[in-house]
Amino acid sequence: MSKITTQEIDELTYLKYRSEKRRWYGYFLGIYQRHTYWMYKVIDDILNENKQIKGIIEIGTIQGALSIFLGLECYERGLKPLLTYDIKEFKEPKLFELLKIRFIDRDCFHETSVNEIKEYADVPIFFMCDGDHKIEEFNYFAGLLKPDSIIAAHDWGIEIGLKNILDTINEYEMEALHKEEWDSPPDYIKTSFWRKGKRSK
Ligand SMILES: C[S@@+](CC[C@H](N)C(=O)[O-])C[C@H]1O[C@@H](n2cnc3c(N)ncnc32)[C@H](O)[C@@H]1O
Repeated sequence: MSKITTQEIDELTYLKYRSEKRRWYGYFLGIYQRHTYWMYKVIDDILNENKQIKGIIEIGTIQGALSIFLGLECYERGLKPLLTYDIKEFKEPKLFELLKIRFIDRDCFHETSVNEIKEYADVPIFFMCDGDHKIEEFNYFAGLLKPDSIIAAHDWGIEIGLKNILDTINEYEMEALHKEEWDSPPDYIKTSFWRKGKRSK
């Protein structure tokens, strides 16, 4: 699978991000975070503005900090319970059971996973690409989602950028959401958000 080379990374932005990223970034409920708290606020705003969203899928669970936040969003809003994939097995946080989060220990590109995802995504959903192959996750799963779904890519500007997904964005007439938050001080959420066109494939 293709990966962005280090030469393609905007070094200055990345170094600034590295030096400032500790702001609102550390642990959530005692679970190590790989993202800043501010991302929760932006996702919450996006869900407030997109009532068509009926479920959330996450690729890349790890210890589950983001999963718990996304699981809370599903629970409180009455969406389908979070579906989250990882190829590694982890000790599931206790909240997974309470929030009915479905942790699936399998490659997201495995045929069984793809069928599961298609079945879950029979309505517009929010899809978070946070596995180790974000470019492939974005370009592949965007095509499986219903129009008006939202797809997000973490590590924006580090592991994935516009040039890697431009064809997909054009093909599905995607609209950028909250672009001012993607890669800006002081919190650098390093995440992009896109909504598929209402009349797209
Ligand atoms: C960046 S971490 C996820 C971070 C997590 N969402 C968080 O915020 O704490 C990436 C994870 O993706 C998992 N992963 C890599 N390839 C995968 C695949 N094909 N299917 C499912 N998970 C995968 C890795 O095992 C790793 O745990």
